[in-house]
Amino acid sequence: MSASDPVITVRGARATLGARPVLRGVDLTVERGEVVALLGANGSGKSTAVRSVIGQVPLTDGEIALFGTPLRRFRQWSRVGYVPQRTTAASGVPATVREVVSSGRLSRARFGLLSRADRAAVDRAIGLVGLADRAGDSVSALSGGQHQRVLIARALASEPELLIMDEPMAGVDLASQEILAGTLRDQVAAGTTVLLVLHELGAVEPLIDRAVVLRDGCVVHDGPPPKAVGQHALPGHDHVHPHAAHEPLRTGLLT
Ligand SMILES: Nc1ncnc2c1ncn2[C@@H]1O[C@H](COP(=O)(O)OP(=O)(O)OP(=O)(O)O)[C@@H](O)[C@H]1O
Ligand SMILES: [Mg+2]
Repeated sequence: MSASDPVITVRGARATLGARPVLRGVDLTVERGEVVALLGANGSGKSTAVRSVIGQVPLTDGEIALFGTPLRRFRQWSRVGYVPQRTTAASGVPATVREVVSSGRLSRARFGLLSRADRAAVDRAIGLVGLADRAGDSVSALSGGQHQRVLIARALASEPELLIMDEPMAGVDLASQEILAGTLRDQVAAGTTVLLVLHELGAVEPLIDRAVVLRDGCVVHDGPPPKAVGQHALPGHDHVHPHAAHEPLRTGLLT
């Protein structure tokens, strides 16, 4: 492990869920300080790919390393912040915003006790996502977008060097999206490495260094963000107008 090691290395990753091959030989490298977007249609394997990176999905073949350490030997989880894809299921556990965000700091706390510095980091993370005035409220009283901001604050609480977020903008209102984009901008400026699963580049497009596009569990693009892709090439867009014949590189990249 050295400072020049990539933060994330994925080589020939294959994974099967149920009987279904979901990752079919994925290669992905994220260098220190890079901001990489992982794009692709529903079911293309984006969430499975990032979950394999944090050890939640076992590979049937291939290898993964974090900060130059093979995943099976990696223990420094406080260096990694992870925001899972939002599900509609409520947690059901009554907890305040501060309690949920504090759970993200436990990997740094000794004996599970938060020091004054830990509590300050928790409050800082809550402030970063604009929820300082809601810190004592139950998360069950929050909107979906506010809840998402809590999950992001939880990931930020450990002051991670690597931030992995699975569709943080999905289902979040425009005001929250702006706050999230601003938070991300600050993290990137501070040198945090970011792997971001996205459906569309949207408000964070200017931050993205590189885009990796998955289709059916395979990488079909790894390079500059597909800037030329207009709104009409994005999933969910209805094709109501004809495309020029020389457009195939643009369309289909994300679908
Ligand atoms: N627990 C599971 N058991 C069986 N199949 C699964 C499981 N989780 C995901 N899959 C399948 O794996 C494939 C990839 O799913 P994944 O969640 O990685 O896609 P995704 O690119 O993140 O999609 P989305 O954009 O909808 O979030 C899909 O076909 C999905 O149905
Ligand atoms: Mg997903």
